[in-house]
Amino acid sequence: MAAKFFLSFRRANYSQLRTVESSLPANATPRSTSSLSLSTERDRALGEKRVMERERDREREEKRVMERERDREREEKRVMERERDREREEKRVMERERERVRVELQRCQARANQLQERLEEVERREHEKVVVQEQAIAAEQRGPSWEVMEDELEETEEELGCGGWAKVKVAKLKVAAKCLHGQLIYDYHRQLFRREMDVAARVSHPNLLRFLGARLEGGMAILTEFMPTSLRALVNRRPRQRLPLEHVLSIAIDVARALNYLHNMSPDPIIHRDLSSANVLLQPSPDGGWLAKVSDYGTANFQSQLQTVNPGSPVYTAPESHDPALQTPKMDIYSFGVLLVEMYTCDFPAPERRAELMESIDHPRLLNLIRQCLNVDRDRRPTAAQLVDLLHAMQ
Ligand SMILES: Nc1ncnc2c1ncn2[C@@H]1O[C@H](COP(=O)(O)OP(=O)(O)O)[C@@H](O)[C@H]1O
Ligand SMILES: [Mg+2]
Repeated sequence: MAAKFFLSFRRANYSQLRTVESSLPANATPRSTSSLSLSTERDRALGEKRVMERERDREREEKRVMERERDREREEKRVMERERDREREEKRVMERERERVRVELQRCQARANQLQERLEEVERREHEKVVVQEQAIAAEQRGPSWEVMEDELEETEEELGCGGWAKVKVAKLKVAAKCLHGQLIYDYHRQLFRREMDVAARVSHPNLLRFLGARLEGGMAILTEFMPTSLRALVNRRPRQRLPLEHVLSIAIDVARALNYLHNMSPDPIIHRDLSSANVLLQPSPDGGWLAKVSDYGTANFQSQLQTVNPGSPVYTAPESHDPALQTPKMDIYSFGVLLVEMYTCDFPAPERRAELMESIDHPRLLNLIRQCLNVDRDRRPTAAQLVDLLHAMQ
């Protein structure tokens, strides 16, 4: 502003000077004092003109400096813009990189989980192998399945005879005696127990508990071979450990064979109606596995004589069991499906947990078989004979 005012003031003086100059005659010749003062006046005017020109130059120079300053500012602004663009681009690159790392991390985690699962599976199989080997060694030490252990046989002094080869004495063998509870004294209970004896006495199969005899007078009792353990005890072992697949399949095949025998009894099939892990008894087999025998004919009956509503344990019972008219051998197949879930998961297959347990079964063919057994439509469940074949194919 000050520079502008100074400029206009200078311009005004300069125009006055031009007025003085132009008022002089062009051909005026210097004469004595007046002509001398005129030349002085002209020199002064010229000097002022030069000053003015320098001033203009300075102004032009100032203007150029200001222009350059403005250019510099514009350039700086452009540089800053470029810098901001570069930062934004860097930010975008970093975002993309972060996203890429996040995706990569997720992929690695999924892979790590997969590997962990595979490792656990390998360890489980290794463990199963060790268990099978240990059992094989134990079985070898124990001897064949028909071996009677020392503490199961008691020799008496009562001699029956003496041959050239050996002496024959009366012996007491450890057997199981199923004795009717003392308070169940009504005829109805005695009849039921009698029916259980009848069924037990009629059947004979390597996978059915062997019936030895029964006491009818006094306290009624059914005598059967002694079995060291049951499937219920095996699946309930703590700490919980899964059964090796070979054992699951071999026990399942034994049970399916027993059912096949009962369901094909002639002329009338027998339906067990109470198949459960407590009613499958086990004895170690020479190969390190188990020999399974179906027991407890308390609810078993010939198909033609069925009258009971909802027989057996509700956990294993087929949906149609509320109606005796709908009860067929296929209700045992339903119970067999529940038993498979229990055996594979080593967990109690309560109806409300069954779906969850089935989700944990990582053997697609077995799972498919279980689903077939648990079909609500009993006609679509497999027969016991088909079960034997299907299970064999999985071995
Ligand atoms: N022969 C046996 N050897 C060893 N334990 C047996 C024998 N029979 C039955 N048991 C055991 O006794 C339990 C009850 O026998 P069970 O015949 O099933 O009776 P219930 O008809 O009352 O269910 C079985 O779950 C099993 O643990
Ligand atoms: Mg029982």
